[in-house]
Amino acid sequence: MRKRLLAGLALVGALALATAGCSGSSSSGDSTAGASGGSAKQLTVGFAQTGSESGWRAANTQSMKDAFSEKNGFKLIFNAADNKQEAQIAAVRSFINQGVDAIVIAPITVDGWDDVLKEAKDAGIPVVLEDRTINVSDKSLYASWIGDDFEKEGETAGAWAKQTFTGATNMVVLEGTTGSAPAIDRATGFAKGMGSAPITTLDSQTGNFTRADGKTVMEGFLQKYGKTINVLFAQNDDMGLGALDAITAAGLVPGKDIQIVSIDATHDGLQALSDGKFNFVVECNPLLGDQVAQLVKKVVAGDPVEKAYTATDQSFTQAQATAALPDRKY
Ligand code: AHR
Repeated sequence: MRKRLLAGLALVGALALATAGCSGSSSSGDSTAGASGGSAKQLTVGFAQTGSESGWRAANTQSMKDAFSEKNGFKLIFNAADNKQEAQIAAVRSFINQGVDAIVIAPITVDGWDDVLKEAKDAGIPVVLEDRTINVSDKSLYASWIGDDFEKEGETAGAWAKQTFTGATNMVVLEGTTGSAPAIDRATGFAKGMGSAPITTLDSQTGNFTRADGKTVMEGFLQKYGKTINVLFAQNDDMGLGALDAITAAGLVPGKDIQIVSIDATHDGLQALSDGKFNFVVECNPLLGDQVAQLVKKVVAGDPVEKAYTATDQSFTQAQATAALPDRKY
């Protein structure tokens, strides 16, 4: 299993960028690609991160900081927007004003990007998206995207639910940030994977991808639906981990009275799975920094790149989590 993960990462990591999988067309000659610099010149890169909502995010930020180091030829200007879209757009504008060589964005939500991306294009600054995708009228406004397949993650979680629950089942859902690509795509994927399973969604509310909100929203679900809840779909580990406290405080046993399926496969998520408190976890790989850094170098140099690169993810049962934990990097 671990070999498979490494093989997947190596595929993308080697900037087998031309072959790593994906949709979209080459952005060679794309007018968003800046003219400056080959690999010898230090590149100044502005990175607009979402915030620091989760363990996944902490690992992604670290991976980006490690990759965009001076040793690797970069000067990184880092901004975390506390999951506020206006603040993230303001950060991108500030990068444009500073005349950076390239901008990397992990977009908080899918909408609202047209204006600022046009401004970057007019300034001749290429934009690379990492992690999350966006809805934009003109795809040439960004050079490329690298991240995980959120819909597939949701579908894998839904397929587990379908296989696990064959009789009438009540589910509650903790959604991620409203309007974000992972919240939208994981919901779509879960419905696809669940298919015609006899699962009723009692409630579905945002927990903003945080432990604190996951706990609060789960407390509300428990007050409203009590013991009738059979399964929780947490769209990330942190919300599921927050929900554990609420479930225990309500006198129920997580993993037994209420089964839990979540997404990310952080160390803490896999620990909960190994401890029998979670029942199934789907991976979302946050260690994208090296691949993004190589992609940025190519884009700035005007080399041809694909429009999208998708990392390879796996999923974990309780036994698989126990086996994977000693080597887990995040
Ligand atoms: O965009 C990826 C999602 O954002 C992760 O699943 C979640 O933990 C994070 O905050």
